[in-house]
Formats: sequence, structure tokens, C-alpha cells
Amino acid sequence: MKKEEGKMEKIVSLAKRRGFVYQGSEVWGGLSGMWDFGPLGVTLKNNIKNSWWKKFVDDREDMYGLDAAIIMNSKTWEASGHLKNFTEKLVECSKCNAQFRADQLKENKCAKCGGELKEEQSFNEMFETNVGASKDSSSVAYLRPETAQGIFVNFKNIIDSFHPRLPFGIAQIGKAFRNEINARDFLFRTREFEQMEIEYFFKGEEWEKHFEDWRVSSWEWLNEIGLNKDVVHELDVEDKDRAHYSKKTIDFEYDFPFGRSELFGLAYRTNYDLTNHKLDYLDDREGERFIPHVIEPSFGVDRIVFALLNEAYTEDELGGEERVYLKFKPNLAPVKVAVFPLLKNKPELVAKAREVFEIVRKEIPQTMFDDNGNIGKRYRRQDEIGTPNCITIDFDTLEDDTVTLRDRDTGEQKRIKIEDIVSSISI
Ligand code: GAP
Repeated sequence: MKKEEGKMEKIVSLAKRRGFVYQGSEVWGGLSGMWDFGPLGVTLKNNIKNSWWKKFVDDREDMYGLDAAIIMNSKTWEASGHLKNFTEKLVECSKCNAQFRADQLKENKCAKCGGELKEEQSFNEMFETNVGASKDSSSVAYLRPETAQGIFVNFKNIIDSFHPRLPFGIAQIGKAFRNEINARDFLFRTREFEQMEIEYFFKGEEWEKHFEDWRVSSWEWLNEIGLNKDVVHELDVEDKDRAHYSKKTIDFEYDFPFGRSELFGLAYRTNYDLTNHKLDYLDDREGERFIPHVIEPSFGVDRIVFALLNEAYTEDELGGEERVYLKFKPNLAPVKVAVFPLLKNKPELVAKAREVFEIVRKEIPQTMFDDNGNIGKRYRRQDEIGTPNCITIDFDTLEDDTVTLRDRDTGEQKRIKIEDIVSSISI
């Protein structure tokens, strides 16, 4: 895969300019590995999360939703193996003190100044904090590095409340935190991010069937959001590279502007976690007690946002002018429809445009009213944020109750009756 020169910078710049993603704490010089989502970024993220939740929770009978606390009893991380194993090899330059992950260095010298490296150390990437007023070892707690453990420790609660039969799954969307040695590449490797995770429980001998089912439904969802096999590739992760809990992992890799890298992972975690949390399952029909195994599809919301921005980013020429537009699938676009009066200083046009705006937004919630600048500027701005439909109210509208509907990708405009406008918009 060839890297696309300058694309990363263009995406980061558009994301900031148009209110998708800002550098965290920017006015104070920023904080490495932290990003803030602006109004359009939040909506894009919500659209991604809602589409995921609908497919994997609402549209299924075997899934239960959960929203567990971010800070958990420290014993959780002892049991899960994270206190011991959630480490990376850290190396530091003896000359300029730059720090690197050993596995990301191409040569045995500092990648910044070429200086000698100090001896390798193990670095645990969990963020540590204290709960309550005392700051001793008994109050130490960690921000969760994966949402998954919140699911495992609630396994018994869900069983006691709902008595589900195997196989069934628990899904959760929430923040996770990792004190990455090298936060890098925009939203790709950050220190605070969001995961959408599922733990799907079943009898151990059925693992291959469930792994395959989740591989297939992961692809279905990817296609729904506009990521297909031209840009996402499966990588069967080798034994030595798998997480400590996994017996099989497929990484779904995406062609990011900086190169091919993990978008999300699908892992067979066996019964490792439930065993360590001392939890099991009673099949009352068979009178059998055992520890279920799990398949875990684990999606990173921020990496999906990055991939979708990269996929959508398009430069072309329209009407003899160069333009940039985001070719989001309409169901994900943060603004689905923009409604404009042709001229902002004609009260009768503004009033009519407001009337049309109210009609449309009742049916299509992510609709906005825009009367900023001239019509050409509005089209360019809406193209740049990926709005698939623009409606313009002009003087003919006042005569015959028709409006123009403009398509983002082709720039084509059609004249449509106001009463037909909602049914003419596909989202
Ligand atoms: N529960 C399994 C787990 O956490 P992981 O491969 O370490 O597995 C799952 O993380 C997903 O979370 C990754 O595929 C990625 O999408 C996202 N992710 C992990 N670390 C990240 C980071 N530092 N920044 C942004 N996303 C991250």
C-alpha cells in the first residue's frame, strides 16, 4: 500500500477547521495523546456508536447492554493479568532522554538524535490514581485500559437479573485509557479513547463456530459504515504477538494514511477471564456447572472515526472549481440535510426557508439551517463537512412551492415540490 503524501495533514486540518476534532487542551499548549471532539465530531461518533449498538444489541435477542464504571477495584486488574502483563518495553536515549517503545524502533539507537539507548525497561501502561483522601497502596486504583473487564465482573449480575441461556453476549461502549509510550498518528494511538466491545459467552467446544459468526457479522457492520475489503484486511496474529489472554486473534487492519495498521480486533479469550474472576455458569436444564468461553470483537471508536474521515476525504473539480468534500455514507453524516434561503436579507425567503427547515427536521433530525455567506460558500462548507443533501429556497419557491435539492457527490440539482421533499431524500 502506498502512503498518500500530505493526506494526514489535510485530514487533521479539515477536522479542526470544520469542528470535528481539536487538539486536547490546545490553549495551554496541548496534552500529547488527547483529542477533543467538536460538535460535528461528537455527532459523527454518536452515529457510529448508534449504528454499532443497533446492529449488535438492539437488533438481536441474545445481547445485553452495559455501562460499567471506569474505575474498578484494583483486584480486577490483578485477576485479569493486566498488572503483570499490560506492559511495553521502554527504551530511553542517554543523550536527549527521548523515550520509545522498543518494538517500534528500527535501529538500536535513538530515532531522534542517534544517541545511545539506555537499558530496556518494562513499563505498565495503566494510568494509576487514588480513590479517596489517602494516598497509600490501599487506595491505588487504575483507569480501565479496556472496557472488557467491566463486562466480565458483571457476568453474574446479568445472569441473576435476566437468566439468559448460552450462547449470549454483553456489549459495552465506553472510555478506556492507556499511558502509551508514544501517542502518535492523530486518533490512531491516543491515551484516552473509546471502545465498543462485546464478550460473547458459549460452551468451549463451540468456539470455532462463534469465531466465524463474529468474523462475518463484523464484516457486515464494516460494510454498513462504508469500509470494504479494498481497504480493510484480515491479519491472523501470530502466537508471539497475541495478548496474554488470547488463543486466536484476527486483527482487521485498515490502510491509514501513515500505513496499514489495526482498526479493531477479534479474539478468542477462552475462559481465561471468567476463571480468574472465579465466575461460572449453571446450565439448569443439563444440571451442569462450567466456565463459559468467550469471543471478543473489540472496536476502537476513534480509529473508526479516523478511517471514515480518511475514506470520505475526496478532492475533485465541480463546475470548473476545485473542491474538497467528505463522501460519508448518508446514515453517518453528522449533517444529513442543510436548508438555505437563497438570500439572507430577504425576509420572505428566510421565513419560507425556516418553514421548510421545520418540516424536514421533524422527519430527519440531523438537519441544519444555514444562511451564512453566499450560496456558493454554503455549498462548499456543506461539502467539506459531508452533508449529502442541500435544499435551497428561492423566489420560485414563493410562487410554486418547489425547492432545489442538491446532491453532494454530483452537485446535481433537482426541482422538487415541498410536499415531496422528505421522501426524495435518502439517508
Ligand atoms: N479488550 C481487548 C482490547 O482492548 P486491544 O487490541 O488492545 O484489545 C482493542 O484494543 C481496540 O481498541 C483496538 O483495535 C483499537 O481500535 C482500540 N485501541 C487500542 N489502543 C488504542 C489507543 N491507544 N488509541 C486508540 N485506539 C486504541
